[in-house]
Amino acid sequence: MPYLQNCWYAAGWSREFVETPIARTILEKPVVLFRGESGACIALDDRCPHRFAPLSRGRRSGDRIVCGYHGLEFDATGRCVHNPHGGGNVPAALSIGAYPLVERYGMAWIWMGASAAADPDRIPVLPVLEDPALSWVYGQLHVSANYELVVDNLLDLTHVEFLHPFLAASDNAARTHFSARQAGDCVTAIYTITGEPISGLFQLLWEGDDTTADMHAHMHWQAPSNLYLDVGMHAPGRAHADGALIPSVHLLTPETEDSTHYFWGAGRNRRHGDEQISGMLHYGTQNAFENEDEPMIRAVRSRMNGNDLFAQRPALLSIDEASVRARRVLKRLIEAEVATGSHAI
Ligand code: FES
Ligand SMILES: [Fe+2]
Repeated sequence: MPYLQNCWYAAGWSREFVETPIARTILEKPVVLFRGESGACIALDDRCPHRFAPLSRGRRSGDRIVCGYHGLEFDATGRCVHNPHGGGNVPAALSIGAYPLVERYGMAWIWMGASAAADPDRIPVLPVLEDPALSWVYGQLHVSANYELVVDNLLDLTHVEFLHPFLAASDNAARTHFSARQAGDCVTAIYTITGEPISGLFQLLWEGDDTTADMHAHMHWQAPSNLYLDVGMHAPGRAHADGALIPSVHLLTPETEDSTHYFWGAGRNRRHGDEQISGMLHYGTQNAFENEDEPMIRAVRSRMNGNDLFAQRPALLSIDEASVRARRVLKRLIEAEVATGSHAI
């Protein structure tokens, strides 16, 4: 299955990109990312056209990158602008690919498709990351499995009771009301539950001496693999916003067919400025993804023959409705891209 090319992918949290070049494989292409002296984040092919040295082994010079092998220099558009050899002659066609990159919401978004189609208005809409009522912690991890398996995991929160005991009380799945909704190409998995024991996670933010509360969890998916979870617990009869909210974003970028870059952010609407809570939220989230979800997703992949899920005739349950819808939408979008020829770049 090819990747959707003409869309924005999360390349990394902005703060990650500094003077030192970073090598990152995105959609199987080696890319070098660095912040130029002007402050712009620059993404180029991580392969020098001379002897194919990774440019990520070189160094920044202004808004250029200098190859660490024989010193060819490339500007932010990928054009070779300096040759320290043979009198400085630079062949006119000597250049490498440059990728459109836009920073928004603290994330660097990269466009791997046809540059002319790179419209910043198509960056995933995630205003929650700029909501002044929330404070955030951020992280990232590497998943040794196809990105669609990670989407499946996120669009199915019934796994939480079984895989993350800190995040849900026992029998939580049996008490939860689940439905899936689709609006255009966006899919949402909706979970509601009343009179639920307040989980260890929500106790971090809970005010009052209740032991149970109502819970909602709405996981929103946008193609190809960007998700936003609106989740909270509130006293019965109160609005969601009156309760404790711990929204999160999950931005997945294929590295290869069997590996994924996973960037996450977790917000909260209470106990702002409390560094201990920030630390616990960061540790708890990273630990759950890295030591509970990732090993399970990797193990699932080890029992599959390839990444075509439906070809293996999985026993689908009602809890799979959202992930199945998302897979169908993505398949249709990729097929449309291939059919129109806009897939070839
Ligand atoms: S490999 Fe880059 S200048 Fe030679
Ligand atoms: Fe999980």
